[in-house]
Amino acid sequence: MTANKVLSLEGLSKRFGSVVANDDVSLDLHRGEILALLGENGAGKTTLMNMLFGHYLPDSGSVHVAGEGEGLRPLPLGHPQAALQAGIGMVHQHFTLAENLSAFDNIMLGSEPLSRLRRDRAAGRTKIEQIMTDSGLRAELEVPVGRMSVGERQRVEILKALYRDVTILVLDEPTAVLTPQEADTLFENIGAMAKEGLSVIFISHKLREVLAFSHRIAVLRHGMKVGEIASADADERTIARMMVGADTPEAERESLEPGAPVLRLENLSVVGRSRRDSLSDASLTVRRHEILGVAGVSGNGQGALAGVISGLMPPSAGTVVIDNDNVDGHDPLTLIRAGVGRIPEDRHRDGIVGSMSVAENMVIERLDDPEVQTRGFLKRDAVQSHAETLARDYDVRGPGVEANARLLSGGNIQKMILARVFERSPKLILANQPTRGLDMGAAAEVARRLLEARSRGAGIILISEDLDEILSLSDRIMVIHDGEMIEADTRDRETLGLMMAGEAA
Ligand SMILES: Nc1ncnc2c1ncn2[C@@H]1O[C@H](COP(=O)(O)OP(=O)(O)OP(=O)(O)O)[C@@H](O)[C@H]1O
Ligand SMILES: [Mg+2]
Repeated sequence: MTANKVLSLEGLSKRFGSVVANDDVSLDLHRGEILALLGENGAGKTTLMNMLFGHYLPDSGSVHVAGEGEGLRPLPLGHPQAALQAGIGMVHQHFTLAENLSAFDNIMLGSEPLSRLRRDRAAGRTKIEQIMTDSGLRAELEVPVGRMSVGERQRVEILKALYRDVTILVLDEPTAVLTPQEADTLFENIGAMAKEGLSVIFISHKLREVLAFSHRIAVLRHGMKVGEIASADADERTIARMMVGADTPEAERESLEPGAPVLRLENLSVVGRSRRDSLSDASLTVRRHEILGVAGVSGNGQGALAGVISGLMPPSAGTVVIDNDNVDGHDPLTLIRAGVGRIPEDRHRDGIVGSMSVAENMVIERLDDPEVQTRGFLKRDAVQSHAETLARDYDVRGPGVEANARLLSGGNIQKMILARVFERSPKLILANQPTRGLDMGAAAEVARRLLEARSRGAGIILISEDLDEILSLSDRIMVIHDGEMIEADTRDRETLGLMMAGEAA
């Protein structure tokens, strides 16, 4: 295999203050190979790829990449432009698109000078059309990215990388926001491109797709590479053990009688910006000690449902009743005070203020609380020690509670949000795609906390496109499709899948 090596990382290390994000990591990639990079949240996967892509300068180590002719050449480190020129493209874990620009402009942006961009729109469009045909990834080019669903945005991100004629494509959790079907299609497309010579590294927490679509698996743990295995020789259990060094226990589910209703939606309609965030005539009840699962493919009205329950979107008709109080038209803060805890879908956009510290983010929903502030000034010491306690209880790992929240890894941001929500013992929890992008351990932790809240007496509305998650946690299941919600009187996967696709009632 050495003859067709296209990339070689040798002894890469990177520290951030006291955190050793990567410790002497070496990794090879071959032409046409699909390599999966696995590891728990915070294991150092994104950091490693950011060094390859020139975003971070390693403390030590080197990278060699195949050039025009034979052999590998050293890649100048710390220069994204050099990485791009060497044919390395990266699709980041978090969206990097400009929301107000169309998909087309986003794809062109940064790869063509502005003057050429205007002149060569037609040529650019032809090229993108060709890439869409070859890759099977489609997007509406003229629509502003801000109006797209997360799945569509993800396709635009990938098209943008492919537009730059990459030979090595790095995808940081490309399917975290996709439905299983979308993910399978994406990987089939990637597989076809790999057959044509594209070399791919992808990061994922979804072992099923890793096993189905990668050729080889490399595992990081605490910044170190702890193993590599051919995907054909691996199974879920083996790689899970490599990742965490032990088996992950399943959350226990207590059998409970549902109590009084905490949330009632009656004939609720929401008119969103587009059909995909609208809701028509939806009615539902969530009781204490109960998890209502809302299954559906993303972009079928979940945004409107979550928006209404968290006070971010006003209903156009119908009522929202929380614990017997009619709360139509109330703002997010009023709802938080009424006992609603919110785990948002897009935790980077709606869950945290990245430029504020972890400690500040942990009190961000109770800035009026005298325990947290006096006369508008934060009580630094109290906020700090409160955050340290929560970080310990919820296992939030990273550069410390004084660091900016955006420096936490994806899973640790989610744990921070969980800490903030559960600490207040909310009576109603809105959990919107709560385990998206989380490793198995962190996902199990979310499940455990939700079940614990259910035992305590909270009502939970769990919006998820992960049917396994819905089935394992929900007391009752509703399906949302095209803005309509229907109660499912089945737990059969296939029937639920058909209902999610709008093909059966
Ligand atoms: N710029 C930074 N400054 C300080 N610490 C950082 C920075 N970037 C990453 N870290 C820390 O380095 C460690 C590795 O983070 P990284 O983002 O590489 O993890 P990951 O494996 O991609 O995790 P996830 O699966 O959650 O995305 C984490 O502890 C993270 O908090
Ligand atoms: Mg990451």
